[in-house]
Amino acid sequence: MKLLFLNGPNMNMLGVREPDIYGRQTYADLENYIRDFCRELGIECELYQSNHEGDLVDAIQRAYGAVDGIVINPAAYTHTSVAILDALKAVGLPAVEVHISAVSERESFRQVSYAGMACCRTFAGHGFAGYRMAAEHLLALQRGVIAGASSRVEITVE
Ligand code: DQA
Repeated sequence: MKLLFLNGPNMNMLGVREPDIYGRQTYADLENYIRDFCRELGIECELYQSNHEGDLVDAIQRAYGAVDGIVINPAAYTHTSVAILDALKAVGLPAVEVHISAVSERESFRQVSYAGMACCRTFAGHGFAGYRMAAEHLLALQRGVIAGASSRVEITVE
């Protein structure tokens, strides 16, 4: 199984940005953490981070036919980007949303997730562990242990 791990804007500033919320570990630490658990779980992984919405859309489009699933932390674009939502819907790959922080306990403007509407699951507030939980969820889906890869894809926004 091959997964794409996508991270959005300012995730490259982990370790520096708001450490009380995001912790002291860096993006390089996150990459090492993901590569380590993927090796352990027998998952082939591709990692990509960008501060640019269009780059993230391009990465999702490139994933079509190339990977079996996407783990995405769209960061601030979570709350604004219809383009990322549409890209996820366009490729139709099983996708899981991750947030390091517990977004549901934060500001009101963080309470909408566009990307999440194209994801079958969200893990928020688990720190780096959320990425592993997301990968394990996609692994279980692929193995048929659990059903419902597209259960939330049909949600629409008025
Ligand atoms: C985040 C939460 C977002 O609201 C925020 O804009 C981020 C990071 C998280 O991982 O907790 O940049 O996605």
